[in-house]
Amino acid sequence: MKFSFAKPALPSSGILAVTVAADRSLGVLGQELDQKTGGALGRAMAAARYSGKKDETLTLLAPAGVELERILLVGVGKAGEISDLVLQSAGGTLFAALDKAGDEVSVLVDLPSGAALAGAAAAAEIAFGARLRSYKFDKYRTNDRKADKKEPKPSLRKLTLLVAEPDAAKKAFARLDGLADAVFFARDLVSEPANVIYPESLADRTKALAEFGVEVEILDQKKLRKIGMGALLGVAQGSANEARVVVMRYNGNGDAEDQRPVAFIGKGVTFDTGGISIKGAAGMEDMKWDMGGSATVIGTMYALAARKAKVNAVGIVGLVENMPSGTAQRPGDIVTSLSGQTIEVINTDAEGRLVLADCLSYAQDVFKPKLMIDLATLTGAIIVALGHEHAGLFSNDDALSANLTAAGLKVGQPVWRLPMNDAYDKEIETPAADMKNVGSGGGAGSIVGAQFLKRFVNDVPWAHIDIAGVAWAKKDSATVPKGATAFGVRLLDRFVADFHEG
Ligand code: BES
Ligand code: MN
Ligand code: ZN
Repeated sequence: MKFSFAKPALPSSGILAVTVAADRSLGVLGQELDQKTGGALGRAMAAARYSGKKDETLTLLAPAGVELERILLVGVGKAGEISDLVLQSAGGTLFAALDKAGDEVSVLVDLPSGAALAGAAAAAEIAFGARLRSYKFDKYRTNDRKADKKEPKPSLRKLTLLVAEPDAAKKAFARLDGLADAVFFARDLVSEPANVIYPESLADRTKALAEFGVEVEILDQKKLRKIGMGALLGVAQGSANEARVVVMRYNGNGDAEDQRPVAFIGKGVTFDTGGISIKGAAGMEDMKWDMGGSATVIGTMYALAARKAKVNAVGIVGLVENMPSGTAQRPGDIVTSLSGQTIEVINTDAEGRLVLADCLSYAQDVFKPKLMIDLATLTGAIIVALGHEHAGLFSNDDALSANLTAAGLKVGQPVWRLPMNDAYDKEIETPAADMKNVGSGGGAGSIVGAQFLKRFVNDVPWAHIDIAGVAWAKKDSATVPKGATAFGVRLLDRFVADFHEG
C-alpha cells in the first residue's frame, strides 16, 4: 500500500475517513463537511448513537451535497487521551473497515483543539497503524491471483492523509515505516511453514540485514560441535535439517564510553514436534511458530539498524528442528552444555530452554554484554497464567524489568513479571546430573523454565520474555491482523530508544 500526505481540502469524490473525538466532536473540516452534507454527519451520529469512542466506526453511504461514495467516521475518544497508540489503533481500524471498499482512501486528520497529539505526528501515527494492520501473508494463495478468476482480491492500494503539514508528516512516517518493515520481516518468518523455514533457510534470510550494516555470522553444525553447544545439538540431532546459530552484530554507537552491547537471544525452533516426548496431533501445526523468539530478535536488529539507532547490539538466535527419529535424543539422555553444566533431558519437549542455555553462554563468553534479554515461545503454562494479553517477564534485575514493562506499555506489547526464587530452582535438581530440564511436578511450569535459564546466566542483568501466548494471534486486533504478531520487535525497539541510546 502506498501512503501519501497532502494539505487538507475536502475531496469531492471517492472515500473519505474522518476522525471524530468523544462526544461527536468534529474538527474544523469535519464541521465543514457536516454543513456541506446538510448536517448528515450529525444526524447519522445521533441516529446510530455514535459518540466517537476509541475505534468506534460509522459509515455514511453517498451522502447528499457531496460526490463522496462514502464517509467513514473513526472514533479517537477523549481529546486529552489521544496518544500515539490511540491514533495507530484508529489507523488500523479504518484500514480494516475500508480495505475492501475501494482502491484509494483519503483520511481527514481533523483532531479537536485540546488533542494531546495532533498535526503531522498524529497523521504519521494513523498511517503507521494502517500499515501495521495491512499485513497479509497470502503468497501461497495462487488462486487469488490467477487471471482467469473473475475478480482479484480487493484491497486498498493508496491512503492519503490530509494534514496541515504534509512534509513534516511524511518525514515522521518514514521512521515508523522502517519499523513496520522490520515488523513485517519478522511476521513473514513466523508465518512461513516449516518446510520453507528450517534452520539453514532461516539463517539465510538473516543475510538481508547486511544491507543496513548488520554483520551476520552463521555458525554451522560442525562449528557448533567444535565449540561445545551440546545442549542445543541434542535437540537438533533427531532432524535431517542441521542446526544453525546466527550472530548478528550492529555497532551504532562506536563512540560510546561503554562499548559493551545489549544482547538479544531468541529461541528458533523451526518446528517443535516435541521429539520422542511427542506432542499430540491436534494443533501441532502451530509449532511452526516456535521460532517466534528468533524472529523477534531478527526483527529487532532490523529495526535498530534501519533507523541507525545509537546503540551497540548483538542478536543471537539458536535454530533447530525438534523431531523424533532414530537419531533423536531420548528421555533420560544427559548432555553437556556449552557452560560445562550437565543436563538430564527428562522431557524432549522442553527443548527451547536447551537451545537458549547454550546461546546465553555464547553471548556472555563472546560479547560480555551489559545486559541480556531472551525471547522464547517457551511454555504452554504461560498461556494458562496470562492468556494472550501479556507476555511473561522473568528477570534477575528490577531496573531492567521496570524498563521493559514501561517500554511494553508504550507500544501496546505489555509484559507481566512473575517471581523467581530458590524454591522453584529446587524443582530441577536431579541426582543424575547438574540439573534436569523439567520440574518434579510442582507446577509453575513457566517459572521453572525461567529458573533453568537462570542457571546459565552469570553476573549480568538478564530478562527472559515468554511469548508463547502472544506470538500468534487467533483473532484480529486494531493494528495486528490474526496470525504472526512479531510481538517484541516494537517493545525492544522502544526499550533501546528510551533506555540505551546515545
Ligand atoms: N514450544 C513449546 C511451548 C508452546 C506451547 C508454545 C504452546 C506455544 C504454544 C515448548 O517447547 C514446550 O513444548 N513446552 C512444554 C514444556 C514442558 C514439557 C515442561 C510445555 O509447555 O508443555
Ligand atoms: Mn517443546
Ligand atoms: Zn518449543
